[in-house]
Amino acid sequence: MDCYNATLLACTRNHPPYPVCEHNNMLRIRVLHGPNLNLLGTREQSIYGTLSLDALDSAITKLAKEMAVKVDLRQSNSESELVTWIQEARTGYDGIIINPAAYTHTSVAIRDAIASVGLPTVEVHLSNIHRREEFRQRSYVAGVAIGQISGLGPTGYLLALRGLHDHLTASRRQKKTAAPATSRRTAKGTR
Ligand code: DQA
Repeated sequence: MDCYNATLLACTRNHPPYPVCEHNNMLRIRVLHGPNLNLLGTREQSIYGTLSLDALDSAITKLAKEMAVKVDLRQSNSESELVTWIQEARTGYDGIIINPAAYTHTSVAIRDAIASVGLPTVEVHLSNIHRREEFRQRSYVAGVAIGQISGLGPTGYLLALRGLHDHLTASRRQKKTAAPATSRRTAKGTR
């Protein structure tokens, strides 16, 4: 049984309803929203829709609970704060979901922070940046992300959560199956 299903079962058995409990092996994902996303719901509604950031965060939190994933959601208009939050995620988080907003197209600092921490990162955009102005079609982050979801509105964040969860679960499983082989080799070598 994989980690996710084991967590789910343990939670359902011990603490119904299961979403309230936490486990040491729960996946932890930091979700970062970049500049001007605090204005979602009122900002350029024809492009970004009418859902507020609070409502978007609630939808992400709800899905995360259903999936037994711990999420930490933050928004900042400051590039330096976003860089600090990415760096801090090194300890205590398994992956990052980020909509760097305008910094997508300008920030080498955010790209370098993501590359430095080495955490699997999914880039999300509400709008389809590839169908918009030319300057939006370049992402500094895409080259260090495991994937990019662009143009699906708020659903993009939910898909990112599922995708990152699956990615992290698969790499945990791989590490687990790789570990015994290593110890077997070591044991043989010491005989
Ligand atoms: C955005 C797209 C960016 O080009 C823009 O600067 C944003 C939001 C999006 O979610 O579609 O602020 O990242």
